[in-house]
Amino acid sequence: MVAALVPGSFDPPTNGHLDVIERCGNLFDRVLVAVVRNPTKAPMFSTDERIEMLEACTAAWDNVDIGSFSGLLVDYADREDIDVIVKGLRAITDFDYEFQMSQMNRHLSGIVTLFVATKAEYGYLSSSLVKQVAGLGGAIDKLVPPIVAAAIEERVNHD
Ligand code: PNS
Repeated sequence: MVAALVPGSFDPPTNGHLDVIERCGNLFDRVLVAVVRNPTKAPMFSTDERIEMLEACTAAWDNVDIGSFSGLLVDYADREDIDVIVKGLRAITDFDYEFQMSQMNRHLSGIVTLFVATKAEYGYLSSSLVKQVAGLGGAIDKLVPPIVAAAIEERVNHD
């Protein structure tokens, strides 16, 4: 039984995130997607809203669960009996910071991080760009799942 942890901000979840989560579901026995509770960032969606969106978008995948954490990722991984952390890599620009975090997590607990290359068509995709494009009236329906697009559009139109 191998359990993988896919952590992130997911503000909001994009098709790129879901591609990585789906592939992890095919590779590992259990996948825990964890939303970071970060009080210093001002997110578009609350942690609970992000959890609800992820639950709706992953409902068809039986071995995928959604959780949240604050504090050190490695402590959460330890409490949840996680074997491996999985991160998506879009491009070389992601590499430095992700590599640094993976080495720090390995130093802290010995846990392994695996990197999954994102689908080429999602290589340019990020949660912040999706929010920016939506805020400026651009189409986001091919970038995020329909329920996420609806939630963003409602938020953007009411702000
Ligand atoms: O989606 P993001 O914003 O790239 O996710 C970053 C996240 C949540 C994976 C990262 O910030 C994280 O692991 N935070 C937990 C804090 C921690 O454990 N820091 C020390 C090890 S690097």
